[in-house]
Amino acid sequence: MWVRVLGSAAGGGFPQWNCACPPCRAVRNGSRPTRPRTQSSIAVSADRRRWFLLNASPDVHAQLGACPALQPGPDGSRTVPLEAVLLTDAELDHTLGLLLLREGRGLVLHATAATHDTLSDGTFLLRTLEAYCPVDWRPVVPGVDTALADGLSYRAFDVPTTKRPRFGSGTGEGRVVGYRLTDGRSGRALVYLPVVQELTAAVCAELEDCACLLVDGTCWDDDELVRLGVSGRTAREMGHLPIGGPGGSLERLAPLPVERTVYVHVNNTIPVLLEDSPERRIVEQRGMEVAVDGLEIEV
Ligand code: MLT
Ligand code: MN
Ligand code: ZN
Repeated sequence: MWVRVLGSAAGGGFPQWNCACPPCRAVRNGSRPTRPRTQSSIAVSADRRRWFLLNASPDVHAQLGACPALQPGPDGSRTVPLEAVLLTDAELDHTLGLLLLREGRGLVLHATAATHDTLSDGTFLLRTLEAYCPVDWRPVVPGVDTALADGLSYRAFDVPTTKRPRFGSGTGEGRVVGYRLTDGRSGRALVYLPVVQELTAAVCAELEDCACLLVDGTCWDDDELVRLGVSGRTAREMGHLPIGGPGGSLERLAPLPVERTVYVHVNNTIPVLLEDSPERRIVEQRGMEVAVDGLEIEV
């Protein structure tokens, strides 16, 4: 199977429009080695012909435009080989792009009931989209294997979070899921986990025998957003396990026998974006990667 990282930054992108943190300043003025990044989303395909989007970021227009495989065909019709969108949650950075896909004939949307409810009755984004094009909702049920196309299938799994919901009171199962995608022909699996608060035993069980893991790299330290004065909440309170420090994702994931582990959903504030930073060196020394937009991986 093929995966293309369409966007590797967390909400706000890199640089973020209103931010003057050290990495945002460096990417604007070119003073340190780093690259701009758009907001978090990937495209997956078994054969590079039919593609599935995981999350639809506010940057989806530019992301599809930069992806040669997702251009309209030569027959003059307004279609691209985009089969469906799979959502991990209802966060704006993962769903605003749905509205930018409204010119299509319709959209097949895989989402849990909890995410579907938030999009319908919390952010109202789905109601707006449905005024433009039909949306064919496929309920995602954690633990159930679901066929997509060309031998590709997925199993979603619940990712427990204590993040306070902005919309409604939904605190239960299915607010955040990860996806384990399997290519039935090779038997190889990819796990997409852009939001994870804790690597619980149940979440780690989904990583067993996975060839490639794309995982939450939002923060380095738990308290860095508080320290920088940009948030009143720690990384964990925002639903993100930090990369560094004791119990961080680097320490937890580096020993696992996953061929490639790549950080995605990287927040603009964090030093790993600077290619000459000590934090970046630590990630690479542990054999892990930091995604850039346009990265393609054959799993
Ligand atoms: C998050 O990842 O914590 C959210 O997407 C932040 C946000 O967009 O407000
Ligand atoms: Mn986010
Ligand atoms: Zn910034």
